[in-house]
Amino acid sequence: MNINNLRPAVGAGCKVHIETYGCQMNFADSEVVLAILQKEGYIYTEDIAQAEVILVNTCSIRDNAEQRIWGRLNEFRRYKRARKGLIVGIIGCMAERLKERLLDEEMVNVVAGPDAFRDLPHLIRMAREGQKGINTKLSREETYAEISPVRLDKNGVTAFVSIMRGCNNMCAYCVVPYTRGAERSRDWQTIVHEVEELFAAGYREVTLLGQNVNSYKCGEVGFPELMAKVAEVSPLLRVRFSTSHPKDMSDELLQVIAAYPNICRAIHLPAQSGSSRMLALMNRKYTREWYLGRIEAIRKYIPDCAITTDLIAGFCTETEEDHQMTLSLMREVGYASAFMFHYSERPNTYSARHLADDVSPEEKIRRLNEIIALQNELSLESNRRDVGGEFEILLEGTSKRSDDKMFGRTSQNKVVIIDRRYHRVGDYVRVRVTDCSSATLMGQEIE
Ligand code: SAH
Ligand code: SF4
Ligand code: F3S
Repeated sequence: MNINNLRPAVGAGCKVHIETYGCQMNFADSEVVLAILQKEGYIYTEDIAQAEVILVNTCSIRDNAEQRIWGRLNEFRRYKRARKGLIVGIIGCMAERLKERLLDEEMVNVVAGPDAFRDLPHLIRMAREGQKGINTKLSREETYAEISPVRLDKNGVTAFVSIMRGCNNMCAYCVVPYTRGAERSRDWQTIVHEVEELFAAGYREVTLLGQNVNSYKCGEVGFPELMAKVAEVSPLLRVRFSTSHPKDMSDELLQVIAAYPNICRAIHLPAQSGSSRMLALMNRKYTREWYLGRIEAIRKYIPDCAITTDLIAGFCTETEEDHQMTLSLMREVGYASAFMFHYSERPNTYSARHLADDVSPEEKIRRLNEIIALQNELSLESNRRDVGGEFEILLEGTSKRSDDKMFGRTSQNKVVIIDRRYHRVGDYVRVRVTDCSSATLMGQEIE
């Protein structure tokens, strides 16, 4: 017998831990990374203290996102001192943005960008042999289409499914087109296949992910057609999607959502600002009026739809008047919830190169706080409108506050807390909403 046959495959039995920061796409990517490594024999460990390889899937979207990760990397120095041979890899958006500069840090052994995950087994092998491994090549084709992600988020009911990668929109403030490269869509057959497998494994909700899902295009299949195909996998499967760009929010898509009860009544439509002047500077390619027109269309086709958004306070040259326009847009739409940020200049973006970051930090924070305070009122109002109403929720887990309670979500993506009784994760339950805070709804099962 050839002695080589007895040697374990590279990576066999080696314990890997993945820590993920950033957006849902990054969480989905970590599951792809794990699938790639498991194929090589790596074993996932939730316990970082057991890991021989630690991968950090990183985010560059705002400076504080990167600062947080730097803080974490500094903690790894300690781990490395305590554990000889420990390999630390930085993967994802920060790896792509900073490239070799990350290798200057002694605690970093491997650097891999979002399109280089298939190279990770090789890069880790190099690191084990004492060299540093780096691959930050971006690709025009890579979609990891045929890889079945290994699910890390283990409620067994909800899953993310990436349908595209990269972004071509070039919003002036945004680092994503640089960290994730050009937009490309994953083959629709592999998407439907992955969703079918998830449903067969007991999953009851999928969220289709991309930076701009409504520009999905695979041959003749655009996003509305893809949504219909995924919704047809089973009426018992809920379908969500994130994120859609207002400029591509077509009536056709709204009609498809309206036609399938299992496509959730929740649309995340990032506005960024309520001022058309700001929107033009941001290169968002729509005006306030156009955005409000899309909101009207959503209300027309899907009257019970919850609308959520992203907002940036204090973008370059923003005046008090522009800021007031954002507040008035929020009131006009009545968002159910929002992600709110102050502008953070990112190196090499259009705005960093050509526009003045001239709103003072104090003023940015003041405006952001006003936006947050208003959104808290709007969220509470939106939730109060649901009190007394009937909803079907999909149970996702045990409530953080009490083992006797469970939580689930409405089609509108609002969290409802109910008594556990005989229920299990993955059950659909009809509830009446009895009370609310600005963050959650309290419900009672309808017998
Ligand atoms: N592709 C998505 C957004 C991805 S980034 C979309 O276009 O809707 C998520 C959010 O982060 C953005 O919507 C924006 O509100 C915020 N963001 C992005 N770059 C930022 C920056 N430089 N400073 C502050 N917020 C930023
Ligand atoms: Fe960034 Fe704009 Fe692309 Fe969203 S659409 S990822 S904000 S460039
Ligand atoms: Fe961050 Fe990259 Fe997502 S920069 S928000 S992890 S696409």
